[in-house]
Amino acid sequence: MDVEKVCLSKNKLKLFPLQLFTAVKQVSALPTRAVAAVLTLAAVVMISTVWFLPPATAPVSYDRKAIIIEGQRRILFSGSIHYPRSTPEMWPGLVKKAKDGGLDVIQTYVFWNGHELSPGKYYFEGRYDLVRFIKVVKDAELYVNLRIGPYICAEWNFGGFPVWLKYVPGISFRTDNKPFKVAMQRFVEKIVSMMKSEKLFEWQGGPIILTQIENEFGPVAEYGGADDLSYAQWSAKMAVSLNTGVPWIMCKEDDAPDPIVNTCNGFFCDGFSPNKPYKPAMWTEAWTGWFTSYGDPLPHRPVENLAFAVANFIQKGGSFVNYYMYHGGTNFGRTSSGLFVAASYDYDAPIDEYGLLRQPKWGHLKGLHQAIKSCEKALVSSDPNVTSHGLNQQIYVFRSKSGDCAAFLTNNDTESNSTIIFNGLKYDLPPWSISILPNCTTEAYNTAKVRIQRSEMKMISSVGGFSWNSYTENSNSIPKSSFMMQGLLEQLNVTRDSTDYLWYTTFVDIGKDEEFLKNGQYPLLTVASAGHSLHVFINGELSGTAYGSLQSPKLTYNGNAKFRVGSNRISILSVAVGLPNGGTHFETWNVGILGPVTLSGLNTGKLDLTFHNWTYQIGLKGEALNLYSITGSSCFEWGEFSQKKPLTWYKAFFNSPDGDEPLALDMSSMGKGQAWINGESIGRYWPGYKAFGSCNGCDYRGFHNEKKCLTSCGEPSQKLYHVPRSWLNPTKNLIVVFEEWGGDPTDISLVKRINVDVELQK
Ligand code: GAL
Repeated sequence: MDVEKVCLSKNKLKLFPLQLFTAVKQVSALPTRAVAAVLTLAAVVMISTVWFLPPATAPVSYDRKAIIIEGQRRILFSGSIHYPRSTPEMWPGLVKKAKDGGLDVIQTYVFWNGHELSPGKYYFEGRYDLVRFIKVVKDAELYVNLRIGPYICAEWNFGGFPVWLKYVPGISFRTDNKPFKVAMQRFVEKIVSMMKSEKLFEWQGGPIILTQIENEFGPVAEYGGADDLSYAQWSAKMAVSLNTGVPWIMCKEDDAPDPIVNTCNGFFCDGFSPNKPYKPAMWTEAWTGWFTSYGDPLPHRPVENLAFAVANFIQKGGSFVNYYMYHGGTNFGRTSSGLFVAASYDYDAPIDEYGLLRQPKWGHLKGLHQAIKSCEKALVSSDPNVTSHGLNQQIYVFRSKSGDCAAFLTNNDTESNSTIIFNGLKYDLPPWSISILPNCTTEAYNTAKVRIQRSEMKMISSVGGFSWNSYTENSNSIPKSSFMMQGLLEQLNVTRDSTDYLWYTTFVDIGKDEEFLKNGQYPLLTVASAGHSLHVFINGELSGTAYGSLQSPKLTYNGNAKFRVGSNRISILSVAVGLPNGGTHFETWNVGILGPVTLSGLNTGKLDLTFHNWTYQIGLKGEALNLYSITGSSCFEWGEFSQKKPLTWYKAFFNSPDGDEPLALDMSSMGKGQAWINGESIGRYWPGYKAFGSCNGCDYRGFHNEKKCLTSCGEPSQKLYHVPRSWLNPTKNLIVVFEEWGGDPTDISLVKRINVDVELQK
């Protein structure tokens, strides 16, 4: 027998709960009492089998306490690092920092739309080299939790789905729909067989110990119908049938059928228990902060708050915690989703976007991991004895048969310190904190006592004063590739997301007897768009700009149209800012100008342009010329830069700054657009979008549930844009910027990012 067969036959044993589930279903035809007896017996057999017999025989399995690897129950700390959100050159350093921070596992989604570019055409190179990423984790001797999805949410364009999927005839996403299930299964099978052939599962000597199917399907199913429920069951069965030889998980899916483990996502998961008593309590997304949206303030999560949440989860029996994100990284290119998600996916994570340690977050969590790991044996081999001491204080004591003892002392009072007497000794606890005593005597850690030096990120200027050439898009020309249709077309149906940009152009004739020509009150143009941003040009002149927000992607433009006698041209550049990454049937959501488009204030009153003839032009001329690429930009005759203008391309060259500090482009002087370094896109920039709403001074003790700490109100949501070092040559690096709003490129500079230690925390 070869290794794979041995492991797969072992794996059959692990499916015991599923077989039992089927067996129970089969006896359901028996009279009720007989069924009850069978069920009770079955439950006893199952609990005793799982709990009292030696840990399951599969190399990776689970019981009600923990994930079991090679016969050992484990407390596992994990961290999300998404491979396309950094560069392959950064991966080893990030993974090492994760290991040094006390992590055992790296969690990543699999990014379907980055891999299957058109049906059956796959790409696994560069930032999308999944196998290389997993091997980096393996080389660091860490495990992998592979979240295959393939729906992933993740603030990633279209929730990870390729846009072509929307155009498969008869498709309906994430429900009992044949075309969808066929495409999904084909991709999941592709990934699983790739992992097997690269020997990346744990039983093959690889690092993968857990695989995830779907993502947070529970909330969808809650509002959905029978088709949604049967889809969830189908996904589960399909996944299990692929024999990965490691447990499958489904996050936020209370109906996850056996043997799949349902897991928790959230800021706090201490109230969570899995749907069966023989499954471990796992927290797949402990949110370390939150993502940034353009127009929104910067979200933070104080580490004391996170540490409390994690310690609380562990003392209540949790044994797997994944930090989402441990390193958030960058949404390069056009990969961020339509929640106005910024290029930065920093997430306030323990490792910042640039790969630097965020202190005290990283260090304080490391201390937490060390304290918990030092009493792992007691934690996984016993249930706690919980006692209350006063209104708001508890002690959790774990004692194993072999004499290990660990205690967690908890002060739930958000206002006052507390003294707890335990085994005759006194322990002082700050408000809302947990102390860990790995040997039941010495306090090794308290969640609120931060003893790590705080670091602050500083930027030091490096390269500025670029010598720019420029080229301005002509908003008054109709290229041959355009086409005319009556009425307004939905943007994605036209562009298929090959570009953010779609021109909508129409003409209006103005007679010389129009009243407005005498009194100078130009007619009002109103444009309703499903999202996300637009620029209106009247006879080639920029007339106005409008954009939506995370709270409301839809927008309405109102502006006077400076018409003249004769034919007037209205050109509207509709700009998408990513496609939705979630929500019920998000494949049916619209982008672009759907109308109505009206003109009021003419002699005839209101003119409805919605059903006029419109000319459509997909993308920009500069995009068609590949101006952002090294070859495209060198084949083109650029002009000398003289003044800042909207819809303008800029190019310059620069030498690489010395040293190895991470680099960023300071784009504060710019409005909105995209930028490329040596042909690689740093993402959509939008410093012109200032954070509105109100910021709050954040007391971590008051921060519970969904509340976030917000800073930077009134400031651009993102000024600095990561430029990975590995994209640079020593000299003659090409920078290309496409600016929509008319920002000033002369103030763009490349800066070095460094960490400076600040005062010691109390
Ligand atoms: C979760 C989801 C993640 C991510 C997160 C917010 O609900 O599973 O993929 O979107 O929210 O960052």
